[in-house]
Amino acid sequence: MGIVFNEKEMLFNLKTKSTSYMMGVYEGYLVHAYYGKRIEHEDSLTDALGFGAYRVKSFMARDFKEDGRSPGLCLESLPQEYAAFNSDIREPALHIQYDDGSAYSLLKYEGHKIYKGKKPLCGMPAVYCEEGDDVESIDITLADELKGLKVVLTYSVFSDYDAITRSVKVINESEGKMSVKKAMSASVDFTRSDFDMTSLYGAWAKERRPDKKALFHGTQRIESTRGSSSHNQNPFIAISSKDATDFAGEVYGFSLVYSGNFEAGASVDAYNETRVNIGINSFDFSWLLEPGEEFLTPEAVLVYSDAGFNGMSQRYHKLYRNRLCRGKYRDLSRPLLINNWEATYMSFDEEKLLSIAKKANEAGIELFVLDDGWFGKRNSDNSSLGDWFVNREKLPNGIDGLAKKINALGMKLGLWFEPEMISYDSELYRAHPDWCIHLKGRERLESRQQLILDLSRDEVTDYVIKAVSDVLSSANIEYVKWDMNRNMSEVGNEVLPPERQRELPHRYMLGLYRALETLTSRFPNVLFEGCSGGGGRFDPGMLYYSPQIWTSDNSDAIERLYIQEGTYTVYPPSAMGAHVAAVPNHQMGRTTPIATRGAVAMCGQFGYELDLNKLSEEELEQVKEQVKLYKEISPIIHSSEYSRIKSVYTDGYSAWQFKAEDGEHVILMMCNTLTHANPESDFVKMRNLDKDAMYKERFTGRCVRGEYLMNVGWQHTGRKDFEATFLIFEKMC
Ligand code: GLA
Repeated sequence: MGIVFNEKEMLFNLKTKSTSYMMGVYEGYLVHAYYGKRIEHEDSLTDALGFGAYRVKSFMARDFKEDGRSPGLCLESLPQEYAAFNSDIREPALHIQYDDGSAYSLLKYEGHKIYKGKKPLCGMPAVYCEEGDDVESIDITLADELKGLKVVLTYSVFSDYDAITRSVKVINESEGKMSVKKAMSASVDFTRSDFDMTSLYGAWAKERRPDKKALFHGTQRIESTRGSSSHNQNPFIAISSKDATDFAGEVYGFSLVYSGNFEAGASVDAYNETRVNIGINSFDFSWLLEPGEEFLTPEAVLVYSDAGFNGMSQRYHKLYRNRLCRGKYRDLSRPLLINNWEATYMSFDEEKLLSIAKKANEAGIELFVLDDGWFGKRNSDNSSLGDWFVNREKLPNGIDGLAKKINALGMKLGLWFEPEMISYDSELYRAHPDWCIHLKGRERLESRQQLILDLSRDEVTDYVIKAVSDVLSSANIEYVKWDMNRNMSEVGNEVLPPERQRELPHRYMLGLYRALETLTSRFPNVLFEGCSGGGGRFDPGMLYYSPQIWTSDNSDAIERLYIQEGTYTVYPPSAMGAHVAAVPNHQMGRTTPIATRGAVAMCGQFGYELDLNKLSEEELEQVKEQVKLYKEISPIIHSSEYSRIKSVYTDGYSAWQFKAEDGEHVILMMCNTLTHANPESDFVKMRNLDKDAMYKERFTGRCVRGEYLMNVGWQHTGRKDFEATFLIFEKMC
């Protein structure tokens, strides 16, 4: 049973296999009681709940008992489950402004409903459950009677995944208007503050670098205001105990299933109590609710691990791989692809493309992806986005003609789109200059020489759906790379009324999600890969529609160690597009061995992005070997349990372990950055193996007992700069 309600004590215990999330009703308020290791009983927390509520702290507002002297309840010293802005003047989770100008809400518990399974989140991506899953949900209704405000907190408990999802519905039941200024998806109050906060910061070509900082008295917060989750921050934070390592200690993960503006942070007050909030960014946001209207937040996913950061990552990986990603390719090995972007950029014709495809086909590659430059008059960044019709000068036989030739080789064809964008120089812009996001009277600033289509408008989203559908129906296209190469500026349009203008970024996301939902269900056999200038929108929201995302435009194997390692913090290897590119690398100018490029890329969704015609015979042989090997191991990588054993950030090299779901195979990938003379001895201790089993390593032929591999380790022997070692251990019977 996932959710237990002790009616006598008015306590809720949301139990997963190994965690408990507890709250209770105290003097009418919904109070947070506990989150952490599983607690079996729900009978001893009543006193603990109110603990502190009557504590006299200076300068805090409270009511006084009838005698006028005994201090009454003080909300500011009570751990809240979902704090509205009121006399609790800590960072709130909810901030509503009413039409009388006031912004004070007092939420009292009204009732709850527990039910099996989980409802979908209307119009937004969310974790889901399937028949047979041990999932239970609860809707808890809170209300401010005076203001006609209702708030429904929804929690779903994924027992076997050790995860809890949360979302919030705000309902205007009053006669007047109200404005949602802030509505977090999740908020948790901790009665301690000895934590660090980890986030994933970055920029184009250097995405998702873990950043761990101690909490301080005040608010530590990350956010995106770019209209996209962004390269710069990821919608995720972890709050960890001071002693947490990769393998031990307490870590709480907060991840938001959303691809737009978000905020996440932790505020510590003077009493060392911490409030963590995550949700849509409240900066530059408001949402008008007419009487009877409601606002739904995106979903937050919370996990708790007492096995350090790897424990947290493993929980997210399993849940997101199995119950966030969807579609035909969720569980399947994906076709091994070659992409022409770094091979040709926009300068290609049919003959050139076919010559790359033929060579790739000989090497066993299964899917040819035609990237940017196939449509309109697109020969550089400055034109044609929006004109999704084929450029016959480059492809005289059209996409259909190309598809037929690619299919005749025995390969699939994939196509790049950037459907959310519009170029000044495009037929679409000439026909609909008002379709881009813009502010009347202001210059429309370009980024990568393009503007953003205003998907907050239904007719614009409908155009996007139709344009992409028309191309996909016109030829046998079996893969789509959905790109998005700029962030929002001059956020506005001339359609929404002034009081709804600040709704635009979220309305845009709802439009985008509608487009993706329609297209992925209309074309269920097409594999979608997300992209945004590489990994600028690598978030759980996009993973709901595309089971893989291009991790970064940086295809240098060494830079990829940093990027992939950071990305594994939340996202599974099955979600990460990773390609072998040419050397010297186009972003870094660095030359690394093809074996290293292969080893690093095989730790994600493997592919190539170069012209194989330019490789030597010897390199081509290696490509063939890599392709063969990856086809064999992709099921292992796909559903493996990932452990970071050595971190490129702190140990100078990476050692990543991927343990197959059935435990029969274990892959260990080690890769150096720069090495030093006279290196010290170094052993890599493997994790979670069967201690009694004997493992045979394929390439060295060595047989080693599990307990030896875990306690003594495998000697790190790679001694050259940029050298990778790829090992496959098989359990012997
Ligand atoms: C973005 C993508 C690249 C490539 C180019 C094409 O930068 O991340 O992989 O598709 O666009 O313009």
